Amino acid sequence: MAESRVPPEISPWPKQTLRGHNIPGSRYTSKEFADQEFENMWTKVWLLLGRESELPNPGDWQREDVGPESILMVRQKDDSVKAFYNICQHRGNPLVSEEKGSVKRFVCRYHSWAFMPDGELNFAPDADDFPGGNPCGKVRLAEIPCETFAGFVWINMDPDCVGLKEYLGPIWDDWSRYDLETWKRYVGKTVTLPCNWKVVLDNFNESYHVPTVHMAATPETKRNRVIGGVNTNYRETRFDLADEGHNRMIMQGGFGVGSTDKEGNIQEPLASLLRQWELDPDDFKGNPEGTRTALQEAKRRLGASRGYTHYDKIPEEQFTDAFHYTLFPNFAVSVWADGFHFLRARPHPTDPEQCIFDNWWYASQPAGETAPVSTMCGDVPRDAEVEHEVFEVGEKSMGKTIDEDIAVFVRQQTGFRSRGFKGVYLSNQESRVSRYHELIDDYIEGRRPLK
Ligand code: FES
Ligand SMILES: [Fe+2]
Repeated sequence: MAESRVPPEISPWPKQTLRGHNIPGSRYTSKEFADQEFENMWTKVWLLLGRESELPNPGDWQREDVGPESILMVRQKDDSVKAFYNICQHRGNPLVSEEKGSVKRFVCRYHSWAFMPDGELNFAPDADDFPGGNPCGKVRLAEIPCETFAGFVWINMDPDCVGLKEYLGPIWDDWSRYDLETWKRYVGKTVTLPCNWKVVLDNFNESYHVPTVHMAATPETKRNRVIGGVNTNYRETRFDLADEGHNRMIMQGGFGVGSTDKEGNIQEPLASLLRQWELDPDDFKGNPEGTRTALQEAKRRLGASRGYTHYDKIPEEQFTDAFHYTLFPNFAVSVWADGFHFLRARPHPTDPEQCIFDNWWYASQPAGETAPVSTMCGDVPRDAEVEHEVFEVGEKSMGKTIDEDIAVFVRQQTGFRSRGFKGVYLSNQESRVSRYHELIDDYIEGRRPLK
């Protein structure tokens, strides 16, 4: 008999007071504002940059760009990961132009200076010809603070930054429950979008748009009856703002709405999900709302014995509900019990009206599970090795829901250019949008939430 246990609870985050200021269109179009953001915000925050599992062996490296900066993450002999600016310290030539690779030494293609994976210069031609002395052992790649958490590599371009754990605040404990470091990627898509990066983050900081953009709701629609997998009623949605600047939103898994036919029979995919957890869809005929608690109980009871070992550590709601986080400044993620939907926007190197947008899906790896992984791009075989795809907007689908969001992003950016736009008028349920913009201003004006 299993020990009786108290499931972990979702503790509230502290209340925040919002200043509520105007957000004009120029914040999304001005090069001057983008430069201020880069100098005072992007270079002072922890950024999720890469995945540890992509760097399995010493010498493995991955390059990621953030605005005008290009950054290398490199696996070390002692298994740690270091980050460096992708710049040769001889005369500034970028060291690599590829996305990833593995090296014994990084050899610059200009004059063959060679740097070890730990950043030390190991070879320079004609080393005795330098009036400052032999640069080997003296000159190093410029290192960037780098830490790992949840299987991801994080960097901070501020040499005096606080530690990652302090920066992440309550996110650290929330995410430690899922063993995310063991999860594997099943979708990896990157696209350049013709909009400012904040257009993307604003959108993922509110669920007000969901009925209209994703559920075809109109002014005539009864919004608590629109068809969808989650309950979008803001009165039943939980919003939390952390002191550190990150946001959380929890929407109940609204399995009731739209999950039945006219006679009340449970429809797919809910019917299959119930069977997977030894529940009979016929038992819920006319009572689709009852499936939420029943699924929670079944997963709690059966999960661990089926290899879902992290189920013991997560709260009931996590089995069914949408936990959505936005990590300041550029990372939005929905965390499900077995799926991690990763959305990230990075600034374009020079143009404030473009950004780089990543859409990834990770899934848990329960021992013995063979069912395909369901992602926002459909089912993917569990043993699939998924390649990272990089493309231009419109060339390929990012998944139906995200395509619907992108169509709005592109149009909204054109509105921000108009002299007719007088600035936003936000609802309470969009308070995470206000908070984000206030924080950007705090960074620009030297009032950082964490020193
Ligand atoms: S700039 Fe790299 S070796 Fe000269
Ligand atoms: Fe959306």
